Amino acid sequence: MPSIHIYLKRFERNLRFLTNLLHAEDRSVMAVSKVFLADSKLIDIINQTEIEYIADSRIENLRKIQTDKPKVMLRIPAISEVNDIVEVCDISLNSEYKTIESLNQASEKIGKIHKIILMFDIGDLREGIYYKDFELNLIKKIQNLSFIELYGIGTNLTCYGGVIPTKETYEKLIQIKEQIELRFGLTLKVISGGNSSAIPMLKRHELSPFINNLRIGEAYVLGRETAYGTHIEGMADDVFTLQTEIVELKDKPSYPEGELGLDAFGKKVEFVDRGMMRRAICNVGKQDVDLFELIPPDGVEILGGSSDHLILNLSNKTYKLGDTIEFKLTYRSLLSLMTSPYIGRVYEEL
Ligand SMILES: Cc1ncc(COP(=O)(O)O)c(C=O)c1O
Repeated sequence: MPSIHIYLKRFERNLRFLTNLLHAEDRSVMAVSKVFLADSKLIDIINQTEIEYIADSRIENLRKIQTDKPKVMLRIPAISEVNDIVEVCDISLNSEYKTIESLNQASEKIGKIHKIILMFDIGDLREGIYYKDFELNLIKKIQNLSFIELYGIGTNLTCYGGVIPTKETYEKLIQIKEQIELRFGLTLKVISGGNSSAIPMLKRHELSPFINNLRIGEAYVLGRETAYGTHIEGMADDVFTLQTEIVELKDKPSYPEGELGLDAFGKKVEFVDRGMMRRAICNVGKQDVDLFELIPPDGVEILGGSSDHLILNLSNKTYKLGDTIEFKLTYRSLLSLMTSPYIGRVYEEL
């Protein structure tokens, strides 16, 4: 069975490396577990660190997480799931007053205060109250809800619109924080300023001190910041790899023979005649992952594939039938491979 290999020590080192950077500047962190489906072995490692919160976007993952750390729901809750949210999570990110009201009612039923982080859209156009439309009256209404605590405010960048965190962009969030604090004489505990795309600013020591929290997923697992997609020096990019076996290895032409129509997915494929090739088929396919999101070892070329097959050009390599090829992963390939029931998980003590 093709398997994701999870290198536990590398994960632990990544957690400690980045958490130390954040803590050195007095910022707390939410470790985001959704890309690894809140795998319990990895949650156990997070539990042993000084990371303050565990966050996930799926209630199913949050429910199964065993931890003493506060659990945070990242995706804006659906009104239909508020009972689960307040039962399972300590904190949720919110942008709709009607939902917050429903969370209040659900919290009252179980006699538990639910904390919210109010999300603001400062340009990326995903979740959050559009910053130009914010009215302070909303805060007053939230304060009147007995079972809701306004724990902080937050924003999410570089997820939809590709907006990179900058001083100018964060200026919009500072103004909102200051307005709220001044008008209501309160101190917001958490200003959650973003995700792995804020790391370049963090590393340049340019992240404004008012941002006292980040929510980090990709950087912990892939050692990559997401503003420019560059590797973070000192972090491992191979915590997760895919190992897949060669099930066919043959010399074949590179250009199909016969009248050409559509492939298995109804698409017209373009081919270039490159003469004969040493071609391999591996036992993973488009049902598991977008094959071009796999990062092959040097000298291995991904040609394409179909639902169950990955086709490689191995002309420059000396692999044998039955050999395993190990690929590094992107965020997207990791996410879909972890979610495929046809992909195993192997834990490595490295
Ligand atoms: C609201 C929110 N915050 C933070 C994250 C983590 O983002 P990243 O993996 O880029 O660190 C995500 C995505 O998982 C998210 O949806």
